[in-house]
Amino acid sequence: MSGGVGSRRRTAILISGRGSNMAALLAAAADPGYPAEIALVLSNRADAAGLGRAAAAGIPTAVVESRPFGRDRAGFEAAMEAELARHGVELIALAGFMRVLTEGFTTRWAGRMLNIHPSLLPAFPGLDTHARALAAGVKLHGCTVHLVTPGVDEGPILAQAAVPILPGDDEASLGARVLAEEHRLYPAALAWVAAGRVALEGNLARLDTPPGPSAERLSNPG
Ligand code: GAR
Repeated sequence: MSGGVGSRRRTAILISGRGSNMAALLAAAADPGYPAEIALVLSNRADAAGLGRAAAAGIPTAVVESRPFGRDRAGFEAAMEAELARHGVELIALAGFMRVLTEGFTTRWAGRMLNIHPSLLPAFPGLDTHARALAAGVKLHGCTVHLVTPGVDEGPILAQAAVPILPGDDEASLGARVLAEEHRLYPAALAWVAAGRVALEGNLARLDTPPGPSAERLSNPG
């Protein structure tokens, strides 16, 4: 794998809860050949279970509680920026981070911030994706890793994984099938961005294509 020790992108994982995707990213980044190193796990909730898992793995953690900021989203994000700067963060992976970010924050981190979403975008943006997929009667569901832009769940798609919806599925069984794919997909997509293998052409993310006049390569390592 390209990258290697000394040139790994310093990455923060932002969480709000359980942190199973975070754990998948930590496991991938435990390989010194993985092109991202996890420099920080940051939560907007002190009670996020993922914080304990990160600390147990020896990863620096920080909490910036969003609640005291109320509607002052810019103030909350400024406090997060201070933590990100303190840890020299270059890339952000949102992993079950349940706060909508401002246009200012998403623009500052454009091309350097990823999110995982539990549906095949652009189908089912927002919440309750598994229940909505079941109610719609779709036969395929899945997950998407995308770059974050100001529009919620709208940024350039990096990778997707599909699963069948099976007779008798409920929200829990379908969610578990999708989650297993999330844990496989997210480490792969973060590696592509961290290794500088993704170029953007407008709203399209291209993997391993030579940069053309309108393509901007992301996160070119050193
Ligand atoms: C994951 O399924 C993730 O895709 C979803 O929250 C869950 C977090 O689980 N994210 C969103 O819905 C974002 N809109 P985890 O904390 O175990 O990774």
